[in-house]
Amino acid sequence: MDAGAIGRTSADLPALPDDPGDRASARFDPRAWFDEPQRRFEIEIGSGKGGYLVDASKRQPDANMLGIEWAREFWLYAADRCRRHQLTNVRLLNADAVEFLKWRVSEAIADVVHLYYSDPWPKKKHHKRRVVRDEFLAEAHRVLKPRGELRVVTDHDEYWVWMEEHFARWTDAGRAGARFERLGEDEARERIRISERESELVATNYERKFTNEEKPPHAAVLVKPA
Ligand SMILES: C[S@@+](CC[C@H](N)C(=O)[O-])C[C@H]1O[C@@H](n2cnc3c(N)ncnc32)[C@H](O)[C@@H]1O
Repeated sequence: MDAGAIGRTSADLPALPDDPGDRASARFDPRAWFDEPQRRFEIEIGSGKGGYLVDASKRQPDANMLGIEWAREFWLYAADRCRRHQLTNVRLLNADAVEFLKWRVSEAIADVVHLYYSDPWPKKKHHKRRVVRDEFLAEAHRVLKPRGELRVVTDHDEYWVWMEEHFARWTDAGRAGARFERLGEDEARERIRISERESELVATNYERKFTNEEKPPHAAVLVKPA
């Protein structure tokens, strides 16, 4: 397998500043990785085998899409798959997406952050490994442009309860400055849906394998206010 011109690793990131406290200099704009950096920019967290990147980038040839996948084998598989599809508007980074957003990505650059079928880590002692945490929501808010969207889908009921608790805190009117607006459930599903099949939303490898018509997945869209 060959990640070709699509794959990115930590070796492709700009050097860190000498002062570890100098966060601003550690950050850069990953839109520079694309041939046409001024285009609409979307980030997918946990791309797995890359099914969403392939479908979505073909549907939106005028958008640039950055997938982030920390498992090297999946990253390589997905990058190779995108390369074979000859996608020019996709890049795939092998990294921890939460850390990457936090330390390396500059502010207000993304139109959408996608998070589909994030690992639920069901044991309580592992909850701190979940992507949806306050720390992540803060970074998603920071990297989104005004009116940018965080789109989330999961089939895991208990993780969904956890997500809803977090979303409620981040859509609270009292949270001035770093607040999201949440779309209603039907509007969120229609915003996210790219599958023609009624029971599917995003047609990822996980969704195709593990979800079915009896139990549609949960979906949310959080919008960063203008
Ligand atoms: C359950 S899989 C779903 C993959 C894909 N979204 C799908 O629906 O087929 C979750 C993926 O997220 C990746 N992942 C989990 N946490 C991550 C993180 N912090 N940064 C990057 N990738 C992560 C895992 O390695 C795995 O490939």
